[in-house]
Amino acid sequence: MEGYELIPRVKAEDLQKRLDELADEINRDYEGKSLMAIGILKGAFMFLADLVRRLSIPVTVDFVRLASYGDSSQTSGTIKITKDIELPIEGQNILLVEDIVDTGLTLDWYLHRLQSYRPASVKVCALIDKFERRQVEVPIDYAGIRMEKGFLVGFGLDFSEKHRNLPGIYEVRFHE
Ligand code: IMP
Repeated sequence: MEGYELIPRVKAEDLQKRLDELADEINRDYEGKSLMAIGILKGAFMFLADLVRRLSIPVTVDFVRLASYGDSSQTSGTIKITKDIELPIEGQNILLVEDIVDTGLTLDWYLHRLQSYRPASVKVCALIDKFERRQVEVPIDYAGIRMEKGFLVGFGLDFSEKHRNLPGIYEVRFHE
């Protein structure tokens, strides 16, 4: 691999406008209720921060970190929790906040695990629904952006730990 360049895909301003819409929807859907937002680390840190600051309903925040085995560009389906949540889940309305759903294997695995803790409800909010390689059908209740394919970075998403800090979304184009 000689190198790569970053092709702009979603501008920071457009992302922020989309977050306004998502937060409006969530505020409406959970009116009169409270919410526990669980961010999946590391990728969801920026999305979760920008989302919860727009919520007017009572919200608590926690994080889980999941590691999947196999090469870094494809989920193998073998997943392990390397940092668990710390708040009790039973009886809570959970909003699982994910950076990007690709094959769906990570989300599917964690959703099953969450159910065993007996939450009142579970919904999923994903910044990007990247659907071409989907292997399991997963419910995405709130999707920021739908994209068919491509390796994306920025707004929390990384390529070898780089580019998480970018305020917009870019596609990595590898040079031949
Ligand atoms: P899934 O289990 O295949 O849905 O993979 C989900 C995880 O893979 C995400 O939480 C990301 O950590 C990673 N991932 C998948 N696609 C991308 C991408 O385009 N850019 C950065 N990370 C990605």
